[in-house]
Amino acid sequence: MSMGGSSEETAPGPQPSPLKIAVLASGRGSNLQALIDAQLRGALPITIVLVASDKGEATALRRAERAGIATLALDPAGYFDRAAFDADLFTRIGEHAPALIVLAGFMRILDPGVLAPWSGRIINIHPSLLPKYRGLRTHQRVLDAGDTEHGASVHFVGAELDGGPTIAQAHIPVCSGDTSATLAQRLLEHEHRLLLACVALVAAGRVALAGSSVAHDGVQLESPLRLGHDGTLVVASA
Ligand code: GRF
Repeated sequence: MSMGGSSEETAPGPQPSPLKIAVLASGRGSNLQALIDAQLRGALPITIVLVASDKGEATALRRAERAGIATLALDPAGYFDRAAFDADLFTRIGEHAPALIVLAGFMRILDPGVLAPWSGRIINIHPSLLPKYRGLRTHQRVLDAGDTEHGASVHFVGAELDGGPTIAQAHIPVCSGDTSATLAQRLLEHEHRLLLACVALVAAGRVALAGSSVAHDGVQLESPLRLGHDGTLVVASA
């Protein structure tokens, strides 16, 4: 889940290498682990400089510690209000000077004010084919609607909940007998590949926020890129 600031234009272009990334996660952290593994095997030109969480007990933090990555756990209960928590969180993130912030299962709505300076440099992974099913319980909502297809999206964080221009999506079929749990499980490996592919594009300076849309290799996308079977992202045919 994510909610953020305005969509200001950010020009695509060369990025520092390796790309410094901060990851925010509230729970299990399997998407974080995919990033850690890719960094360790040299598959992505990234350095994860910080993993931050609103839950001290989050498995994501343990994964980061095991990999020797700096962690930050902030308890929202210790703050006067949400804005104060968000302001402190993003001040501390800023001290690590990431070039990109990745929201990977960060289960809090964020104040647009703190996100505005990060516009175009903060992405979220969401388990649905946005704009369908923003928010929670996406797998069950897909089943309830009788959809034949499900998927995941990586998008630049915008002003609305799970809004902002979508960079790319992974699609999976809904099979007979699927439950919310089987859908979630089957989607997860696609999420991991989707996130890695999107971060690779950002690191290569090949995607950027361009107003209310996404520029890919300098060309405005008419629809999100699509994850292929080989793990690469392709321009979706009209
Ligand atoms: C993923 O389904 C992600 O799309 C959503 O929250 C879940 C996080 O899973 N935003 P994990 O913590 O990365 O395992």
